[in-house]
Amino acid sequence: MTRKYRVPCPPPPKKGYRITLLPKGVELEVRPEQIPYSRHGLPGSILDIVSAKDEHLIEHSCGGVQACSTCHIYVEAGLDSTNETSEREEDYLDKARGVKLNSRLACCCVPDGTVDVVIQVPPWNTNEVKEN
Ligand code: FES
Repeated sequence: MTRKYRVPCPPPPKKGYRITLLPKGVELEVRPEQIPYSRHGLPGSILDIVSAKDEHLIEHSCGGVQACSTCHIYVEAGLDSTNETSEREEDYLDKARGVKLNSRLACCCVPDGTVDVVIQVPPWNTNEVKEN
């Protein structure tokens, strides 16, 4: 059975690259042949990759199905290497706190692997469902 996605699913990267998560300084090596890493978000999305390392590095109330804005992140480096923001992602970003020009939803943001990516997880990134 193939999964259906609510937003366009970009092709996975052709070469490996690195994701650095701030402020924790966690570094992850991404290998295209291992995508999808988890069952959260688009295959190859930042949430897909990060969740496989630790479910709580980026909280995600809806499980990565583009139905909340919990997974809001700032892409500090490598933004040009990521897929275009979909209309659905824009709609949920409009509901997010502290939106900037480099804001993305981690479950929708798929780097193409041409450069390393640095993301900032906002301090208010909490799963309100989990936290009550
Ligand atoms: S986890 Fe809900 S929109 Fe990304």
